[in-house]
Amino acid sequence: MKHYTTKQIKDLWLKYFTSHGHKQIDSASLVPQNDNSVLFTTAGMHPLIPYLLGQPHPAGKRLCDYQKCIRTNDIDEVGDIGHLTCFEMLGNWSLGDFFKDEMISYSFEFLTSKEYLDIPVERLAVTVFAGNSDAPRDTEAYNKWASLGIPKDHIFYCEDNWWQASDVGPCGPDSEMFFITDKAPCGPNCNPSCNCGRYLEIWNDVFMGYRHTEDHKLVEMEQKNIDTGMGLERVCCVLNGLDSVYSCDAYLPAIHWIEAASGKTYGKDHDTTRAMRIIADHMRAATMILGDEYPTTPSNLGRGYVLRRLIRRSVNYARGLNIDAMRLVELAELYISQFKEYYTCLETNHEFVTTELVREIKKFNNTIGQGLKEFRKALSTISGTVFPGDVAFRLYETFGFPIELTIEMAKENNLSLDMEEYNRCREAHRNASRDNTKVFTSGLSGTGEMETKYHTATHLLHAALRKKYGSDLHQRGSNNTPERLRFDFNLDHKMTPEEIKEIEDEVNRAIKAALPVTCITTTVDEAKKSGAIGLFDSKYGDQVTVYSMGDYSKEICKGPHVKNTSELGTFHIIKEESCGAGVRRIKAVLK
Ligand code: ALA
Repeated sequence: MKHYTTKQIKDLWLKYFTSHGHKQIDSASLVPQNDNSVLFTTAGMHPLIPYLLGQPHPAGKRLCDYQKCIRTNDIDEVGDIGHLTCFEMLGNWSLGDFFKDEMISYSFEFLTSKEYLDIPVERLAVTVFAGNSDAPRDTEAYNKWASLGIPKDHIFYCEDNWWQASDVGPCGPDSEMFFITDKAPCGPNCNPSCNCGRYLEIWNDVFMGYRHTEDHKLVEMEQKNIDTGMGLERVCCVLNGLDSVYSCDAYLPAIHWIEAASGKTYGKDHDTTRAMRIIADHMRAATMILGDEYPTTPSNLGRGYVLRRLIRRSVNYARGLNIDAMRLVELAELYISQFKEYYTCLETNHEFVTTELVREIKKFNNTIGQGLKEFRKALSTISGTVFPGDVAFRLYETFGFPIELTIEMAKENNLSLDMEEYNRCREAHRNASRDNTKVFTSGLSGTGEMETKYHTATHLLHAALRKKYGSDLHQRGSNNTPERLRFDFNLDHKMTPEEIKEIEDEVNRAIKAALPVTCITTTVDEAKKSGAIGLFDSKYGDQVTVYSMGDYSKEICKGPHVKNTSELGTFHIIKEESCGAGVRRIKAVLK
């Protein structure tokens, strides 16, 4: 088989789909905009939810892209051969245009054609939806694969072949494609879902013809969509016959850097290899999150907590390899230079990334000192020979103490560690933080009536702030629920009560002026020329939608919005606070 770099695979993907009528769109922010159902963008379809539900996309009905993604639900598996928290997903979509038959033909051609991935047909296996009480067995997909030449004993009906990003929103049966490795079957019933390692998943075609409503009913959508996703690092690993995703070119420079910084060899022993992989993965994720269009700062809540955990875990493993934790900033810089070609924001936010990393690593170094005090305190209260597992867990969770370190220190004091208790506490916490990664609200995509109002109010607030503080003020984050709006922006000082009142009055004047809200589709250049603000770097290729509120505000945005600002009521700022260095946060309500 041919050998490919991740860049070559990316280029082939875009070449294939653009030559089949797809328009390339830009990778969206890792922070889902106007969608509270997940903390991070976990798949390429996430930013497209409004369009999968029927809103027209400015770039048309056939789209393709590469999308940066973060998935942290399997963070404890990172370090094995295939799990990553940060990866790139290649995707293509049909928004109510072609459907199953054509998509399976495209997939087959891209996978097997000499011009593209050139995978021998006998190396491919596929799964299709087995059917259940909600939706029928997908015999159409089965027959289509068979008609293209996939042997019938390589096509499997599976009950789990159903895809949805969250409990509410677009979904549907899927067909997954697998590469068959040289590994012998694990038994007579070996199949793609047995996870023995013989079958490696490379691509997923979702036939997105359904939607889960907010009251959890499954309904058929009028618009039948295609949503597909191919994990770039995974497919690179499979095509090149690599032993793990970390041997692909996306990670090799990082692995080499870690080898040089630690003086140890990758691949020699299990623990060192695992530690190196964790550092490589987590630092890439942290760099991408800090260098995003909507940067997150480390904190103890939500996205900030995930980021903090990624950085602190990297520091722990770096210490274990005798790497000075501060040097991890060099690794972040390495990733910036490697990926800025695709994600220009990494370069724009270069300074922010390094400043925040230095700040967080320093803070963590101080906490480790406090943890040592806590350890000694616990030691003085122990009468038996066992160090309590719950204290070890607290040292891990609150002070970031690696368990290996606690075991070692306990041993030095002739104590053994109660691992059973430690694991119990860890499991209980893991279940709780899994819940924490999904933040349920009353609806997806901010399409609820109140969220729409808050969205429009956010534009007015943004414009009012820029009017007062100047055009260097930019949005750093935004989140609306049915109860309030939240808006983050850069400003170098705490707003005084007078300043807050001034902004409030300004927004209320704009509401009272009953400004019509209008929307046009145009090119990025035209939008820029017309004075629209927004993220020019990372929007949908040439075409964007621009929302105007009279002459007061003009922003590149996906909507939705109210028709007239008079619908908003009265605007009150309920809180103004810091949320990171030089970043302020306003929470406001409409009454
Ligand atoms: N959204 C689908 C996935 O992530 C394609 O697998």
